[in-house]
Amino acid sequence: MLAVKVPLKKVEATKDYLIKKGILERGCRIFKEKGFIYLPIKEKFKTEFSFADKKFEEIERPKTLKEVLKGKLTENELSELKTAFDVVGEIAILEIDDKLRKKEKVIGKALLATAPNIKTVLRKEGSHTGEFRAQKMKFLAGKNTKETVHKELGVKLKLNVEKVYFSPRITTERKRIMELVNPGEDVLVMFSGAGPYVCVIAKNTKAKSVYGVEINPDAHKYALENAKENWLYNVKLFLGDVKKVVPKLNKKFDRILMPLPKSGENFLDVALKAAKEKAVIHFYDFLADKDIPKKAYEKVKKACERNKKKCRILGFVRCGQLAPRAFRVCVDFECRA
Ligand SMILES: C[S@@+](CC[C@H](N)C(=O)[O-])C[C@H]1O[C@@H](n2cnc3c(N)ncnc32)[C@H](O)[C@@H]1O
Repeated sequence: MLAVKVPLKKVEATKDYLIKKGILERGCRIFKEKGFIYLPIKEKFKTEFSFADKKFEEIERPKTLKEVLKGKLTENELSELKTAFDVVGEIAILEIDDKLRKKEKVIGKALLATAPNIKTVLRKEGSHTGEFRAQKMKFLAGKNTKETVHKELGVKLKLNVEKVYFSPRITTERKRIMELVNPGEDVLVMFSGAGPYVCVIAKNTKAKSVYGVEINPDAHKYALENAKENWLYNVKLFLGDVKKVVPKLNKKFDRILMPLPKSGENFLDVALKAAKEKAVIHFYDFLADKDIPKKAYEKVKKACERNKKKCRILGFVRCGQLAPRAFRVCVDFECRA
């Protein structure tokens, strides 16, 4: 196969160039010989380096879940299979319809075979319920554990996926909020869970302080551990009900996050009372497509009127889909006296 012979120091830049131009041959194992790296290419290109004819070892493409399950499930069962799954740390979390439950262990084992980074496969049982928004999980395959360490945006988050709410699908939203935080801000994360927002903000911004309040003792315990493991010293975490804890903090904040979309409006009064002049509040809500953003704006405006505050809506984003026509929405607004 045609290859280009590149000195070690120039490999990364050359590889980037070849990928950009679509010249790099995929599926081949790149190798080193006498201080040079040989990159497989589809055609010659203008370069200072020389070309050579080389043999490359083929890299086996990982199989998809359906490919691994061929022959183990009937065609009909394969067509019913939901192939999307979440990965939290080393745990993959699947949804399996009732019809396929008798094959769930086979499906779990097959999923393990598709990706070396997955060590455990669990199945969702029901949905997020109760005050803690926790979700029951059934063990299917691999290492029998529900605790893992998830890495996102430069932080490590240890948690038990059954005892604590956590969604890797909200990473983009956490990044969005993190990028809005200005140096010197006092930030309050209500409903802080195992600390994803708290840790991501404390690690990646110059916030003066990041407070978290969480009612689930397991989630709080993980949040304390995560703040420590990530060496975050400007973090303060409190166990308890936001309605009781926040008024007792005797502190006002520049930015308040309210990631409890199911009933967040019940906590808007507490947030408004803890807000500094011109503070920004991020209010999360679950809404049907047709009600976005009107219904969330109404909740915000009503709460501001009740608390005799002026509000300026800064905008909204959709940050997750729950059903074909239902979304998680975040409304950003500024409040003033
Ligand atoms: C949707 S989860 C979000 C957790 C975390 N912020 C995250 O993004 O992963 C909502 C969290 O709010 C907590 N919670 C519910 N009601 C609360 C309350 N009144 N006071 C404090 N925390 C509460 C739940 O235990 C749960 O951990």
